[in-house]
Order: sequence, then structure tokens, then C-alpha cells
Amino acid sequence: VEILDQTRLPREEVWLDGSDPDHMIQHIKALSVRGAPLIGVAAAFSLGCFAQRGHGETAIRSAARRLVDARPTAVNLRYAIERQLLAFDRSGPDAIMREAIAQFQEDVELCENMAQRGAALIHEGEGILTHCNSGGLATAGVGTALGVLIRAHQLGRGIQVFVDETRPLLQGGRLTAWELSRHGVPFTLITDSMAPVLMRQGRIQRVMLGADRVAMNGDFANKIGTYGVAVAAAYHGVPFHPVAPRSTVDPHCATGDDIPIEEREAHEVRGAHGGFGSLSWAPADAPVFNPAFDVTPASLITSMVLDNGVLSREALAAGALRNLLDQPGTHRRESVHV
Ligand code: MRU
Repeated sequence: VEILDQTRLPREEVWLDGSDPDHMIQHIKALSVRGAPLIGVAAAFSLGCFAQRGHGETAIRSAARRLVDARPTAVNLRYAIERQLLAFDRSGPDAIMREAIAQFQEDVELCENMAQRGAALIHEGEGILTHCNSGGLATAGVGTALGVLIRAHQLGRGIQVFVDETRPLLQGGRLTAWELSRHGVPFTLITDSMAPVLMRQGRIQRVMLGADRVAMNGDFANKIGTYGVAVAAAYHGVPFHPVAPRSTVDPHCATGDDIPIEEREAHEVRGAHGGFGSLSWAPADAPVFNPAFDVTPASLITSMVLDNGVLSREALAAGALRNLLDQPGTHRRESVHV
């Protein structure tokens, strides 16, 4: 299992070995591999390799536990490993890698479905704001929200994408800008604080971004800054759509208050570090608050694009996510504890 080191993009394309779960945990924590669905798939492959090397049940379960703990907010990681342990209980160690491959293929398909459903919402010539990175670097397929935008471009909708740089780790400036360039999608990079002005000027007709965990009432966690974008969009009457696969919906979270939010190290806010080098501008001991995600309430959503449906704010409030999870193709999550 090799992963493209996203901390080095866009300057360098460096691949890292991820076939050992403890190495993969380091890559996940460092955000060398990131994005809710991709973390799940990457972790699943490393556990698959570990099982193939002949480790016993105790070691497999312990590696599974450590992988799940690598990042707390994106639920896809837990979901991926839980499914592997279920497969292991049913069919033995070889099933762990088979399950990883199935999840990879499934994620490609989920992305296709989101791209199709989401692109149908986009009108000719729209300016669309996105935040963080929700593309091929965050999934096994074309992406969630960014996949929708790439598809809309391919369908000739003539869109212009506005890309929030996404402080503190700059996933927008480094990764989304890189992906959109490679796909030839017209875009403009902005700092996070510029989006409300563009909305006021009438240059943004829609917001589309990803999700790391969706609660059953439609509240969702996504990269820090999403909540502010949602508030600005509501104020300016700009339609706001999170885009997520079913694997990001957590039946164990009734509301956004139940979603654990990862807090990261202070140096990420005191400066900037990456393939571009390292720079600190704040006093070395400046107190810092650095939540990696925030929760946006469902009341600010115009509609949520899922792989198997588009749910309006009213449908979310009426509990429609439960019906979507009950559709064929959704794996039950109640039955295993990592
Ligand atoms: O900390 P990251 O870079 O893993 O955060 C990623 C995001 O917040 C994405 O928007 C999210 O994973 C959803 S899109 C696949």
C-alpha cells in the first residue's frame, strides 16, 4: 500500500509505504493521507496487509483499535475498520483484505453517484465556493463535493470555482487548487475571510463542500471554517450543500453535539509548515485554539447531496436520513465493537 504524501503537495509527488498499520497511523495523524473516505480506505488496506502477514487475532484487533483512534472526527475510519472486523469474524483473516478492496471499489461508485446527483443541481455559469479538499485526494474516487464540481465542469456548465485556502493546514490552497488545475476547471483561490465579500458582490451562487461526519438530524462536521461559510451563505441567501456518501452518516450521533471534534497542535496556528518549508510568526508560547473541524447545524443547509438521494432541510428535519440508511447497499453498524 503506497500513499501519496499530501503534506508535500503540490510541490512534490512523494509516495509513502503504508502497509504497516503503525506507519499508516503516523501518516493519518500527520495528514499525509487525509479526507474522511480516504482515511477509511487507507486504514483498511493497511489492516489487510497486516492480516496477510499472518498476525493472530489479538494483534489484528489491537492494530484495528489503534487505527480507529488515529483521528476521531471522520467516522469513515471507524466504519471501515468495523466492517473489516465483521468480515474477519464471519470468514477469517483473508476476508480483511477482501473487505478493503470492496470498500475501495464501493467508494469509487459512491463518488460517481454523488457527482451525478450534485451536478444536476448546478446551473449554467454559476460561481461556486468550496472549502478544504473534498476531491480525489480525499476519497478513492473522483471526490465528494469537488467531484460534483469537476463533473459539472465536464458537463459544460461553465462554472467558476472559488477555493477557500482553508487555514490552518491550507488544504484548499495546496490540494484543491492542484486538483482543479489538473482537471482544467476554472478557479480562483481566496483566503477564508474573502468569501462573504464575494457573496455580497453576487459572485457566488452556491456553496458545495464535504463532510466528515453527519448526525442523524443532518447536523454535520467538516473542516474548521465550514460553519462560518454556512452563516455567511444563509445571510446572503446563497444555497448551501454538504456532499457526503452514506459511509459518512453516523447512526450513533443523534445531533451534531455528539460528534467528537479533533483538536490539533498549537504550532499549526502559530505558523505554517509543509512542503513549502516552515515559518512561525506568532510568539512561541502564544496560547492557541486549534479545532480541526466545526459542526454546522442542519438548519443552515439548503439540501444535502448523498450518493443515494438529495435531502432538503425540511426532509433532514423530518428524519429522512434514517430512511436513506435503510436502503439496500448500506452496511449495518450496530453489531461490532472495535
Ligand atoms: O483534516 P482533513 O484534511 O482530513 O479534513 C478533510 C475535510 O474536512 C473534508 O472536507 C472532508 O473529509 C470531507 S470531503 C471527503
